[in-house]
Amino acid sequence: MKIAVLPGDGIGTEIVEQAVRVLKALDLKFEMEQALVGGVAYDAHGHPLPESTLKLAKEADAVLFGAVGDWKYDKLERQFRPEQAILGLRKNLGLFANFRPAICYEQLTHASSLKPELVAGLDILIIRELTGDIYFGQPRGKRTSPDGNFPGAEEAFDTMRYTRPEIERIARVAFEAARKRSKRVTSVDKANVLETFQFWKDVVTEVHKDYPDVELDHMYVDNAAMQLVKAPKKFDVVVTGNMFGDILSDEAAMLTGSIGMLPSASLNASKQGLYEPSHGSAPDIAGKGVANPLATILSAAMMLRYSLDQEEAAQRIENAVKKVLAQGLRTPDIHSEGTTKVGTREMGDAVLKALG
Ligand code: IPM
Ligand code: MG
Repeated sequence: MKIAVLPGDGIGTEIVEQAVRVLKALDLKFEMEQALVGGVAYDAHGHPLPESTLKLAKEADAVLFGAVGDWKYDKLERQFRPEQAILGLRKNLGLFANFRPAICYEQLTHASSLKPELVAGLDILIIRELTGDIYFGQPRGKRTSPDGNFPGAEEAFDTMRYTRPEIERIARVAFEAARKRSKRVTSVDKANVLETFQFWKDVVTEVHKDYPDVELDHMYVDNAAMQLVKAPKKFDVVVTGNMFGDILSDEAAMLTGSIGMLPSASLNASKQGLYEPSHGSAPDIAGKGVANPLATILSAAMMLRYSLDQEEAAQRIENAVKKVLAQGLRTPDIHSEGTTKVGTREMGDAVLKALG
């Protein structure tokens, strides 16, 4: 088995280094190969997702990804910006199912900006469709406006669209995931305004007929944004499109008060996956050795579970993370009075030790 390791930009290299140390300590048989991605790849090869990196990712059973992006690339033409690497990997590997758990760890309940009683025990799974919607829909571009409020004016446009098979497959992923949890799915849409999301709602409802043991409800995205801060624990599995999922998953992550703790997985139909922390490249703290490596370490655990079929090793990592939290070790992002502040590498050391 092969893992492509793509640390990327900013804190990416620091956090991935710790996850790689943890993976190596497991004594499992897999090969790891590193490559450049994002801004550093643009600097070295003139493209954020060089052919060689894409080839490595395609051949691998799983990709361990750090983060991409830095303000210094903001002025580049869109196709050369670091973010295009992650979009390119998703599209080229067909990674349509994005799992973003938002779990509030017992010891971190007070890190949330919400009242502790609202978030204690929170465990939501956001399933975001990742290869369709307005992020990839054609046509898109700039032109002279042919109609609308200002005919003849300069205009930019994107296209929101979903085909039936795209909605069907993500709905199935959500219902299957719910079967392993509390058997409840909330499908988030904007069916009151958008054709695309009326269709989404209709197709999800049809697919639901195959899962009568799972409870399904529908919610408009604006209401979902509100309910997430009002009563987040009412949610279990949330399934939604690419753009709404992008926004709601950040909101849900923040409820836990510790985005530095949250892993994510993006899977295709053959269980090949890309695993990355839910947070970004944090250029402001890059190179300082203070970034929280736990989201990446937990992403490595998800990788073992979903793509490499190593459930036991996945649990070993997750238990080790719980142990270091119980020991009171905290990187600055989750530090509070009465706990011990540690840096990126020290946190990695502690997880390694806790593996047992
Ligand atoms: C995410 C990020 C990406 C997205 C960006 C970096 C392209 O925000 O993974 O949520 O919009 O999907
Ligand atoms: Mg996002």
